Amino acid sequence: MIEKRKIILDCDPGHDDAIAIMLLGAFPEKVQFAGITTVAGNQTVDKTFFNARRVTEYLGLDIPVYRGCEGPLLRSPVLADDIHGETGLDGFTFHDLKRSPETEQGVLWMLRTLREAAEPMTILATGPMTNLAMALRLEPEIAGKIREIVFMGGAMGLGNVTPAAEFNMFADPEAASIVLSSGCPLVMAGLDVTMQALCSEQMISRMAGRNNPAARLFKDTMTSYCAVECKTYNVTAAPLHDPVAAAWLLRPKLIELKPMHVTVDCTGREGYGRTYCDYYGKGGGRANCRVALQLEADAFWDLIEEAICRYGA
Ligand code: BDR
Ligand code: CA
Repeated sequence: MIEKRKIILDCDPGHDDAIAIMLLGAFPEKVQFAGITTVAGNQTVDKTFFNARRVTEYLGLDIPVYRGCEGPLLRSPVLADDIHGETGLDGFTFHDLKRSPETEQGVLWMLRTLREAAEPMTILATGPMTNLAMALRLEPEIAGKIREIVFMGGAMGLGNVTPAAEFNMFADPEAASIVLSSGCPLVMAGLDVTMQALCSEQMISRMAGRNNPAARLFKDTMTSYCAVECKTYNVTAAPLHDPVAAAWLLRPKLIELKPMHVTVDCTGREGYGRTYCDYYGKGGGRANCRVALQLEADAFWDLIEEAICRYGA
Protein backbone atom coordinates (compact mmCIF):
# COMPACT_ATOMS: atom_id res chain seq x y z
CA MET A 1 0.00 0.00 0.00
CA ILE A 2 1.27 3.49 -0.85
CA GLU A 3 1.50 5.68 2.21
CA LYS A 4 0.10 9.16 1.64
CA ARG A 5 1.36 11.99 3.81
CA LYS A 6 -0.57 15.18 4.45
CA ILE A 7 1.97 17.99 4.51
CA ILE A 8 2.58 21.67 5.02
CA LEU A 9 5.56 23.05 3.11
CA ASP A 10 7.20 26.00 4.85
CA CYS A 11 9.60 27.61 2.39
CA ASP A 12 11.40 30.64 0.94
CA PRO A 13 11.50 30.22 -2.86
CA GLY A 14 14.26 30.42 -3.90
CA HIS A 15 15.37 28.30 -6.86
CA ASP A 16 15.78 25.01 -5.02
CA ASP A 17 12.55 25.56 -3.05
CA ALA A 18 10.78 25.96 -6.40
CA ILE A 19 12.11 22.60 -7.58
CA ALA A 20 11.02 21.03 -4.27
CA ILE A 21 7.47 22.27 -4.97
CA MET A 22 7.66 20.83 -8.50
CA LEU A 23 8.93 17.50 -7.16
CA LEU A 24 6.28 17.04 -4.49
CA GLY A 25 3.48 18.39 -6.68
CA ALA A 26 4.15 15.60 -9.15
CA PHE A 27 3.27 12.82 -6.70
CA PRO A 28 -0.25 13.56 -5.38
CA GLU A 29 -0.74 9.87 -4.57
CA LYS A 30 2.09 10.15 -2.01
CA VAL A 31 1.87 13.71 -0.78
CA GLN A 32 -1.22 15.78 -0.18
CA PHE A 33 -0.49 19.47 0.35
CA ALA A 34 -2.64 21.21 2.96
CA GLY A 35 -0.87 24.39 1.92
CA ILE A 36 2.39 26.29 1.64
CA THR A 37 3.62 28.91 4.08
CA THR A 38 6.38 31.30 3.16
CA VAL A 39 9.03 33.06 5.17
CA ALA A 40 11.77 35.65 4.73
CA GLY A 41 15.01 33.94 3.76
CA ASN A 42 16.29 33.73 0.22
CA GLN A 43 14.40 36.99 -0.30
CA THR A 44 11.90 39.12 1.61
CA VAL A 45 8.66 37.43 2.61
CA ASP A 46 6.76 39.53 0.05
CA LYS A 47 8.94 38.04 -2.69
CA THR A 48 8.96 34.44 -1.39
CA PHE A 49 5.15 34.61 -1.03
CA PHE A 50 4.85 35.91 -4.59
CA ASN A 51 7.27 33.27 -5.90
CA ALA A 52 5.49 30.34 -4.24
CA ARG A 53 2.24 31.56 -5.80
CA ARG A 54 3.92 31.93 -9.19
CA VAL A 55 5.43 28.43 -9.12
CA THR A 56 2.26 26.63 -8.00
CA GLU A 57 0.07 28.48 -10.48
CA TYR A 58 2.52 27.96 -13.35
CA LEU A 59 2.63 24.21 -12.67
CA GLY A 60 -1.15 24.00 -12.31
CA LEU A 61 -0.95 22.94 -8.66
CA ASP A 62 -4.04 23.81 -6.66
CA ILE A 63 -2.28 24.64 -3.37
CA PRO A 64 -3.09 27.65 -1.17
CA VAL A 65 -0.07 29.78 -0.27
CA TYR A 66 0.19 31.88 2.90
CA ARG A 67 2.48 34.73 3.82
CA GLY A 68 4.35 34.01 7.06
CA CYS A 69 6.85 35.94 9.16
CA GLU A 70 8.46 39.11 7.98
CA GLY A 71 11.82 38.46 9.64
CA PRO A 72 13.75 36.28 12.11
CA LEU A 73 12.84 36.04 15.81
CA LEU A 74 15.80 37.93 17.27
CA ARG A 75 18.66 38.46 14.89
CA SER A 76 18.90 41.13 12.20
CA PRO A 77 17.49 39.93 8.85
CA VAL A 78 19.72 38.14 6.39
CA LEU A 79 18.78 37.36 2.78
CA ALA A 80 20.39 35.11 0.17
CA ASP A 81 19.79 37.55 -2.67
CA ASP A 82 23.43 37.16 -3.72
CA ILE A 83 22.48 33.64 -4.88
CA HIS A 84 18.76 33.84 -5.71
CA GLY A 85 18.79 37.36 -7.15
CA GLU A 86 16.61 40.43 -6.98
CA THR A 87 13.35 38.50 -7.44
CA GLY A 88 14.43 35.50 -5.36
CA LEU A 89 13.79 33.38 -8.43
CA ASP A 90 15.81 35.03 -11.17
CA GLY A 91 15.96 33.32 -14.54
CA PHE A 92 12.35 32.40 -15.28
CA THR A 93 9.55 34.53 -16.73
CA PHE A 94 6.15 33.74 -15.23
CA HIS A 95 2.75 34.79 -16.52
CA ASP A 96 0.58 37.16 -14.46
CA LEU A 97 -1.15 35.56 -11.50
CA LYS A 98 -4.86 34.80 -11.75
CA ARG A 99 -5.53 33.34 -8.31
CA SER A 100 -6.15 35.92 -5.58
CA PRO A 101 -3.74 35.81 -2.65
CA GLU A 102 -4.73 34.13 0.61
CA THR A 103 -5.08 36.74 3.34
CA GLU A 104 -4.81 34.60 6.50
CA GLN A 105 -1.42 35.03 8.22
CA GLY A 106 0.78 31.98 7.59
CA VAL A 107 1.57 31.05 11.19
CA LEU A 108 -2.09 31.42 12.22
CA TRP A 109 -3.18 29.33 9.23
CA MET A 110 -0.58 26.67 10.14
CA LEU A 111 -1.86 26.53 13.72
CA ARG A 112 -5.51 26.36 12.67
CA THR A 113 -4.76 23.65 10.11
CA LEU A 114 -2.83 21.50 12.58
CA ARG A 115 -5.45 22.03 15.29
CA GLU A 116 -8.26 20.94 12.96
CA ALA A 117 -6.32 18.01 11.44
CA ALA A 118 -7.79 14.58 12.20
CA GLU A 119 -4.32 12.97 12.04
CA PRO A 120 -0.86 14.42 12.79
CA MET A 121 0.68 16.11 9.75
CA THR A 122 4.19 16.30 8.31
CA ILE A 123 5.93 19.65 7.98
CA LEU A 124 8.66 20.09 5.42
CA ALA A 125 10.75 23.19 6.16
CA THR A 126 13.07 24.42 3.42
CA GLY A 127 13.74 27.91 4.71
CA PRO A 128 14.60 29.56 8.03
CA MET A 129 12.33 28.05 10.71
CA THR A 130 10.78 31.30 11.95
CA ASN A 131 7.17 30.35 11.16
CA LEU A 132 7.49 26.97 12.85
CA ALA A 133 9.09 28.43 15.96
CA MET A 134 6.36 31.06 16.21
CA ALA A 135 3.69 28.38 15.91
CA LEU A 136 5.36 26.24 18.59
CA ARG A 137 5.73 29.22 20.93
CA LEU A 138 2.14 30.37 20.45
CA GLU A 139 0.72 26.88 21.06
CA PRO A 140 3.34 24.39 22.31
CA GLU A 141 0.73 21.60 22.48
CA ILE A 142 0.49 21.79 18.68
CA ALA A 143 3.62 19.57 18.66
CA GLY A 144 1.24 16.68 19.30
CA LYS A 145 -0.36 17.31 15.90
CA ILE A 146 2.97 17.17 14.07
CA ARG A 147 3.93 13.73 12.80
CA GLU A 148 7.44 14.91 11.98
CA ILE A 149 9.37 17.96 10.83
CA VAL A 150 11.68 17.29 7.91
CA PHE A 151 14.02 20.18 7.28
CA MET A 152 16.76 21.28 4.95
CA GLY A 153 19.29 23.02 7.11
CA GLY A 154 22.45 22.74 9.12
CA ALA A 155 25.55 20.65 8.55
CA MET A 156 27.78 18.30 10.44
CA GLY A 157 30.64 19.73 8.40
CA LEU A 158 31.33 23.05 6.72
CA GLY A 159 28.90 25.92 6.51
CA ASN A 160 27.92 27.69 3.30
CA VAL A 161 27.35 31.25 4.55
CA THR A 162 30.02 31.31 7.24
CA PRO A 163 32.75 28.74 7.86
CA ALA A 164 30.46 27.36 10.58
CA ALA A 165 26.88 27.81 9.44
CA GLU A 166 24.44 26.78 6.75
CA PHE A 167 22.09 29.51 5.47
CA ASN A 168 18.70 28.39 6.89
CA MET A 169 20.22 27.95 10.35
CA PHE A 170 22.21 31.18 10.17
CA ALA A 171 19.17 33.15 9.05
CA ASP A 172 17.27 32.28 12.24
CA PRO A 173 19.28 30.24 14.77
CA GLU A 174 16.93 30.97 17.68
CA ALA A 175 13.95 29.66 15.68
CA ALA A 176 15.91 26.52 14.79
CA SER A 177 16.75 26.05 18.46
CA ILE A 178 13.06 26.14 19.39
CA VAL A 179 12.28 23.53 16.75
CA LEU A 180 15.20 21.30 17.75
CA SER A 181 14.03 21.27 21.36
CA SER A 182 10.32 20.92 20.55
CA GLY A 183 10.13 17.16 21.07
CA CYS A 184 8.71 16.72 17.55
CA PRO A 185 10.26 13.88 15.54
CA LEU A 186 12.88 15.55 13.32
CA VAL A 187 14.70 14.64 10.12
CA MET A 188 17.62 16.89 9.13
CA ALA A 189 18.81 17.05 5.54
CA GLY A 190 21.86 19.24 5.96
CA LEU A 191 24.68 20.21 3.63
CA ASP A 192 26.44 16.87 4.24
CA VAL A 193 23.79 15.21 2.13
CA THR A 194 22.49 18.03 -0.10
CA MET A 195 26.03 18.59 -1.40
CA GLN A 196 25.71 15.10 -2.90
CA ALA A 197 22.87 16.29 -5.18
CA LEU A 198 25.02 18.19 -7.65
CA CYS A 199 23.35 19.79 -10.65
CA SER A 200 25.73 20.03 -13.60
CA GLU A 201 25.23 21.47 -17.08
CA GLN A 202 24.71 17.91 -18.32
CA MET A 203 21.98 17.39 -15.74
CA ILE A 204 20.22 20.57 -16.83
CA SER A 205 20.33 19.33 -20.45
CA ARG A 206 18.99 15.93 -19.43
CA MET A 207 16.00 17.47 -17.62
CA ALA A 208 15.44 20.13 -20.29
CA GLY A 209 15.13 17.34 -22.85
CA ARG A 210 11.74 16.43 -21.36
CA ASN A 211 10.47 19.63 -22.93
CA ASN A 212 7.32 20.30 -20.90
CA PRO A 213 6.37 23.13 -18.46
CA ALA A 214 8.26 21.55 -15.55
CA ALA A 215 11.32 20.93 -17.72
CA ARG A 216 11.32 24.59 -18.79
CA LEU A 217 11.06 25.70 -15.17
CA PHE A 218 13.95 23.42 -14.24
CA LYS A 219 16.10 24.52 -17.15
CA ASP A 220 15.69 28.27 -16.69
CA THR A 221 15.83 28.38 -12.90
CA MET A 222 18.73 25.95 -12.65
CA THR A 223 20.71 27.66 -15.39
CA SER A 224 20.54 30.93 -13.47
CA TYR A 225 21.10 29.35 -10.04
CA CYS A 226 23.96 27.08 -11.10
CA ALA A 227 25.82 29.92 -12.82
CA VAL A 228 25.77 32.00 -9.63
CA GLU A 229 26.54 29.07 -7.28
CA CYS A 230 29.43 27.85 -9.44
CA LYS A 231 30.93 31.34 -9.55
CA THR A 232 30.40 31.97 -5.83
CA TYR A 233 31.85 28.67 -4.63
CA ASN A 234 34.27 28.06 -7.52
CA VAL A 235 32.75 24.68 -8.40
CA THR A 236 31.48 23.07 -11.61
CA ALA A 237 28.10 21.80 -10.36
CA ALA A 238 25.66 23.25 -7.83
CA PRO A 239 23.88 21.52 -4.94
CA LEU A 240 20.11 21.21 -5.25
CA HIS A 241 19.48 21.45 -1.50
CA ASP A 242 15.75 21.60 -0.78
CA PRO A 243 14.58 18.83 -3.14
CA VAL A 244 16.76 16.37 -1.18
CA ALA A 245 14.65 16.94 1.95
CA ALA A 246 11.51 16.70 -0.19
CA ALA A 247 12.71 13.46 -1.78
CA TRP A 248 12.82 11.79 1.64
CA LEU A 249 9.02 12.13 1.83
CA LEU A 250 8.65 10.30 -1.47
CA ARG A 251 11.48 7.73 -1.27
CA PRO A 252 12.91 7.52 2.25
CA LYS A 253 15.24 4.72 1.19
CA LEU A 254 17.24 7.19 -0.93
CA ILE A 255 18.71 8.68 2.22
CA GLU A 256 20.63 7.05 5.06
CA LEU A 257 19.79 8.57 8.45
CA LYS A 258 21.47 8.38 11.85
CA PRO A 259 19.77 9.46 15.09
CA MET A 260 21.77 11.98 17.10
CA HIS A 261 21.50 14.89 19.47
CA VAL A 262 21.52 18.15 17.50
CA THR A 263 21.70 21.69 18.84
CA VAL A 264 22.32 25.03 17.18
CA ASP A 265 24.75 27.75 18.21
CA CYS A 266 22.83 30.81 19.40
CA THR A 267 25.78 32.63 20.94
CA GLY A 268 25.86 35.33 18.28
CA ARG A 269 29.62 34.82 17.96
CA GLU A 270 31.79 33.04 15.38
CA GLY A 271 29.79 29.84 15.47
CA TYR A 272 26.39 31.57 15.25
CA GLY A 273 23.99 29.24 13.41
CA ARG A 274 26.29 26.21 13.50
CA THR A 275 24.57 22.88 14.11
CA TYR A 276 26.35 20.62 16.58
CA CYS A 277 25.54 17.03 15.64
CA ASP A 278 26.65 14.53 18.27
CA TYR A 279 27.59 11.77 15.82
CA TYR A 280 29.39 9.64 18.43
CA GLY A 281 26.90 10.30 21.24
CA LYS A 282 29.66 11.75 23.38
CA GLY A 283 27.63 14.62 24.82
CA GLY A 284 25.09 12.39 26.53
CA GLY A 285 22.09 14.27 25.09
CA ARG A 286 19.05 12.30 23.93
CA ALA A 287 18.90 11.83 20.14
CA ASN A 288 16.35 14.44 19.03
CA CYS A 289 16.95 14.24 15.29
CA ARG A 290 17.65 11.76 12.52
CA VAL A 291 20.47 13.29 10.50
CA ALA A 292 20.93 12.49 6.81
CA LEU A 293 24.36 11.09 6.01
CA GLN A 294 24.24 9.64 2.53
CA LEU A 295 22.15 10.19 -0.62
CA GLU A 296 21.68 7.75 -3.48
CA ALA A 297 22.37 10.49 -5.99
CA ASP A 298 21.58 8.60 -9.22
CA ALA A 299 18.21 7.49 -7.89
CA PHE A 300 17.57 11.04 -6.67
CA TRP A 301 18.06 12.43 -10.18
CA ASP A 302 15.88 9.67 -11.63
CA LEU A 303 13.17 10.82 -9.22
CA ILE A 304 13.54 14.45 -10.33
CA GLU A 305 13.24 13.34 -13.95
CA GLU A 306 10.20 11.19 -13.18
CA ALA A 307 8.59 14.21 -11.49
CA ILE A 308 9.25 16.41 -14.52
CA CYS A 309 7.76 13.77 -16.86
CA ARG A 310 4.58 13.75 -14.82
CA TYR A 311 3.84 17.36 -15.92
CA GLY A 312 2.97 16.19 -19.43
CA ALA A 313 4.60 15.68 -22.78
C1 BDR B 1 19.46 26.62 1.82
O1 BDR B 1 19.57 28.03 1.78
C2 BDR B 1 18.81 28.55 0.72
O2 BDR B 1 19.54 29.48 -0.01
C3 BDR B 1 18.35 27.38 -0.11
O3 BDR B 1 17.04 27.61 -0.61
C4 BDR B 1 18.38 26.23 0.86
O4 BDR B 1 17.15 26.11 1.55
C5 BDR B 1 20.83 26.01 1.54
O5 BDR B 1 21.76 26.43 2.46
CA1 CA C 1 15.15 27.26 0.80
